[in-house]
Formats: sequence, C-alpha cells, structure tokens
Amino acid sequence: MRVLGIETSCDETAVAIYDSRDGLLSHLLHSQISLHAQYGGVVPELASRDHICKLLPLTKEVLKKARCTWSDLQGIAYTQAPGLMGALLVGATFGRALGYALTIPTLGVNHLEAHLLAPFLEEHHPNFPFLALLVSGGHTQLIQVEAIGEYKLLGETLDDAAGEGFDKVAKILGLPYPGGPILSKLAQEGCPGIFEFPEPMRKNKELNFSFSGLKTAVLQAWEKSLKTEQIKKDIAYAFQKTVVDALISKTMLALEKNKLNNVVVAGGVSANTLLRKKMDALSLRMGLSVFYPRLEFCTDNAAMVAYTGCYYLDRGISDKNLKIQVKARGSLL
Ligand code: KG4
Ligand code: ZN
Repeated sequence: MRVLGIETSCDETAVAIYDSRDGLLSHLLHSQISLHAQYGGVVPELASRDHICKLLPLTKEVLKKARCTWSDLQGIAYTQAPGLMGALLVGATFGRALGYALTIPTLGVNHLEAHLLAPFLEEHHPNFPFLALLVSGGHTQLIQVEAIGEYKLLGETLDDAAGEGFDKVAKILGLPYPGGPILSKLAQEGCPGIFEFPEPMRKNKELNFSFSGLKTAVLQAWEKSLKTEQIKKDIAYAFQKTVVDALISKTMLALEKNKLNNVVVAGGVSANTLLRKKMDALSLRMGLSVFYPRLEFCTDNAAMVAYTGCYYLDRGISDKNLKIQVKARGSLL
C-alpha cells in the first residue's frame, strides 16, 4: 500500500510517501523557523496560514520526487493530535479532501505514536517488546510497547516535558527560538563543574520525571550570576547534563523493573547528542540494544506519519465518517 503522510501539528509543514513494500519513497519538510523567530516562539495563526500556503506545492513536489502521480496513492495519513488546533485542521482538512477526491481511505494519526514508531523507518529496528523513552516538546513518557498499538504507560513527567525544559531554559538565558537545539549546542562549550544542579527525582524509585524545579534552579543561578557569555555556556552545560542524567536514570530503572533490554528513544529531544552518547555507552556496558530515529526524523516530520498511517490503513483501519476531527491534546495512552 502506498500512503501519503501529512504533518502540520506545529511549525513544520511536512509530507512523505511510504510504501508498505518499498519503504520510504520521498519526504519533504518546510520549516517555519524564520517566520516565527522574530516573535521568539510559534505564533499559531501564522503557523496555520503558512501551512495553507505550503501544503499543496510541497505535496506535488513529494509526488514528483517519488516518481508518483495522484492515482498511485492508495491512502492518506495526517496528524490528528496533539498539536495547535488551527495547524492540525489545515493538514486534516487537506488530507480528508484529497482522500475524498481520489476516493481512497484516510486516517488521522496520533503524533506521539508516529514519533514512537519513527525507528521503524530504518532497516535496523527493534523487536517487541521494547521500552520507549518518548521525549518531545510536550511529553516525557516511558512506555512499554508490546506491539504496534499495544502501549502501557510506565511513567511520565509530573510537570514540564524535557523539551519544554530545554526551551524554557533557553528563554531564561536569552537564546533565540528554537531554543532547545541552540541551548544544546551552546552546552558543548560549557565547563564542567562550574554549576551543578541536583538531579530531579533521583532518590524516588517511581518512574516519573520532574523538570520544573530544575528550571527554577537555573533561573536563580542565572539571576545571581554576572550573566557573561561563558556563564551562559556553563549553565547550559550543567542543565543539559542534569536532564540527560535524569532521563537515563529512569530509563535504566524502567528496563530493570520490567525486565526489558530493547529501548527506543524518540521525539525531538532524542536528537540530543549527549543523550545519545550516554545512552550508547551505557547500553554497551549493559548489553542493551538502543534504537533512535535517524536525526532528521527525531523532530517533527511526515515520514513517521506516513509509516504509522500505512501500518493501520493496510489493515483496513481508516476514518469512518466525513467528520473532520483534530485534538489539541491527545495522549497516546
Ligand atoms: O518532537 P518535537 O519535534 O515536537 C513535539 O512533538 O513536541 O520536539 C521538539 C522539542 C523541542 O522542545 C526542542 O527544544 C527539543 O525537542 N529538541 C531538543 C533538541 N532538538 C530538539 N532538545 C535538546 N537537544 C536537541 N538537540
Ligand atoms: Zn513532535
């Protein structure tokens, strides 16, 4: 089955074509970073308007790249939740209208499930069951995955998500949007040991996270400091180290508690170099297998949506009526 995937949940317009036999045929992404940068964050109304402008030309291009025509498509998958309502509506309306015109089935896909399944776009992907550490801008969850569609929540953040922590600390330090990846780059130039923050929930044997206290500790350290460029880097270093250590401690605890040795790290924060480095070192030592999406599929993209949609559409699961439904919140579990 050949499926067009559409992703418009936030500030990227992305389309991709996935074929259940031939794999990923093509994928394209238009980032709205330059549009929102002047406002220091995503402006929802501008995001929706830009998705409207970019979606059709990008889809025509992705078809051309895959050497396909409209009639080669056998299904359409679009991100249904969670995300910005207006932005989601653009992708959903486009996908549903296209499906209606081409008389092919459509399916609204959960964005978090798509992130979680992104490693399946690679040849070397995990066997079931596995543990997933889902770390994005809005979610930080540990999920036991028995099979596609069979998910059990083991733990999650009680306040800020890890990506949200990166973005908020970037703001505190006066870094431009998008803060997370910029902060992580800056951290590479920081000196170890100048600042140290306590690892949140370290002594707690539950599988939950908490990052808002860490954010406050960073704010206090920054306010009390001389606010030099080097101090910015040193704080970024200490913050990143603390977040990564917290993510890894709880992941190891979850693996141990649930007797699993395959782990998937997915979502925007899985692009973080330090997280990957520490995770790889530890897994080597403990005989674990760790799987990540390729870097460009860690953050939002349509390849993961096309893959997820194709899996379900191929099994006869599709939108049942003509009602177009999107949800700003929409947990996987
Ligand atoms: O998965 P994603 O693209 O969007 C959501 O579904 O939320 O994740 C975006 C999040 C942002 O909070 C961003 O700051 C964070 O992922 N992020 C990173 C890195 N790249 C993106 N955080 C730390 N290090 C990175 N290299
Ligand atoms: Zn995402």
